[in-house]
Amino acid sequence: MTAIESVTGAPHARIYGIGAYRPSRVIPNSEVVEAIDSSDEWIQQRSGIKQRRWATPEETVQLMSVTAARQALERSGVDARQIDCVIVATVSHMFQTPAIATAIAHELGTDQAAAFDISAACAGFCHGLALASDMVRGGSAGYALVIGVERLSDLTDVGDRGTAFIFADGAGAAVVGPSDTPAIGPVVWGSDGEQYGLIQQREDWRDVVASDHPQMPHLVMQGNPVFRWASFVMAKVGQQALDRAGIRADQLDCFVPHQANMRITDAMARAMKLPDNVKIARDIAEQGNTSAASIPLALDRMYAEGDAKTGDTALLIAFGAGLAYAAQVVVLP
Ligand code: UT7
Repeated sequence: MTAIESVTGAPHARIYGIGAYRPSRVIPNSEVVEAIDSSDEWIQQRSGIKQRRWATPEETVQLMSVTAARQALERSGVDARQIDCVIVATVSHMFQTPAIATAIAHELGTDQAAAFDISAACAGFCHGLALASDMVRGGSAGYALVIGVERLSDLTDVGDRGTAFIFADGAGAAVVGPSDTPAIGPVVWGSDGEQYGLIQQREDWRDVVASDHPQMPHLVMQGNPVFRWASFVMAKVGQQALDRAGIRADQLDCFVPHQANMRITDAMARAMKLPDNVKIARDIAEQGNTSAASIPLALDRMYAEGDAKTGDTALLIAFGAGLAYAAQVVVLP
C-alpha cells in the first residue's frame, strides 16, 4: 500500500477576536404586540425581551456578515488573506445554493478561502467554532473565520403568537487561529432528532409552490417543550463541557448561552450552580433571539459593558432546531 502524506496543525487553537453587526431598525415590544394580542409585560416576563432589531432590505445576510467579519479581523490583527476557511452558520440565507460563504469570503478579500454554510440553527455558531478549532489543530486551516448570521424577520410570521416577539436579525463573527496553550475546550455536541418537529419551517418549498395561495414558509415552534428541554437537558450539556475542559464552575468568569429566553438562561445557571460572580450574557433583552448570531453578539455586548475581558474563561452553549446543540469552554481574546 502506498502511504500518503499527512499534515498536523497548531498544538492548540484560540479565538483571536469577535465582531458584531446589529441592524439599524430597533423594534420595541410595543410594535409587535398588537398583531399577536400580547403585551409588553407578558413578553418581558416570559422571555426577558424588551426590544429586538430587524434588518432593513439593504441589511442583507452578506452585508451583515461582512461587516461583523471585518470588525473581528480588525480586532484580531489578522488580514483577510490569512483566512483559509470561512464557515457561515445560518438558516436565513434564502438561496438553497450556492452557499453565501463563498460570496462573503470573496468580498472580504480572502485568497480564495474554502467557504461553506452550515445549518445547525441556533446551535450553528458553536458548531462552527468546533470545526474551526479542529481545522486549525488538524492543519487544514491556518486561520478560520466563523460567522453566525440571521435575518429571521424574513422567516417570521408577525401574526404568530409563538414566535413573532422572539426572533430577530444580526450577525457575529470570530477569527480562530493557532495557540500555544489550549483556549477552545473540547466540544460537547449532539442532536435529538426525535424532537425534529419542535422548531421548523412550516412547509417544504415544493408545497409552497404547489399551493393556491403561496406564502413564505415561516418558522413555527412548539415553545413550551423546547423551553423545558433547553432548561433541563442543556444544563447537563453545559456541565459536561465544563468537565471536559477541566474547569469548575467557580473558575468560570462568563456564561454565554444562546440568547433564546432569559428564563432558560437563569434556569441553566441555577442548575449548574454557577456562583454569583460569574457574569451572565443577557443580550436578549435588547436584541431578541438572533439564532446563530446570538452568542457572538452577546459576547460583543459583554466586552462593551465591561463584563468580559481578555483572558476570561467563558462557557458557550447553543441549542435549537433539530434539536441540535453544542457547548465548549473558551478563553476569551
Ligand atoms: O432559539 C431556539 C430555541 N428556542 C427556544 O429556546 C424558545 C423556548 N421557548 C420559549 O422561550 C417559551 O416557550 C415562550 C417564550 C415561547 C413561551 O413561553 P411559555 O412560558 O412556554 O408560554 P406557553 O406557551 O406555555 O403559554 C403560556 C400562556 C398560554 O395561556 P394559558 O393557556 O396559560 O391561558 C398562552 O396562550 O401564555 C399564552 N400566550 C401568550 N400570551 C400573550 C402564548 N403566547 C402568548 C403571547 N402573548 N405571545
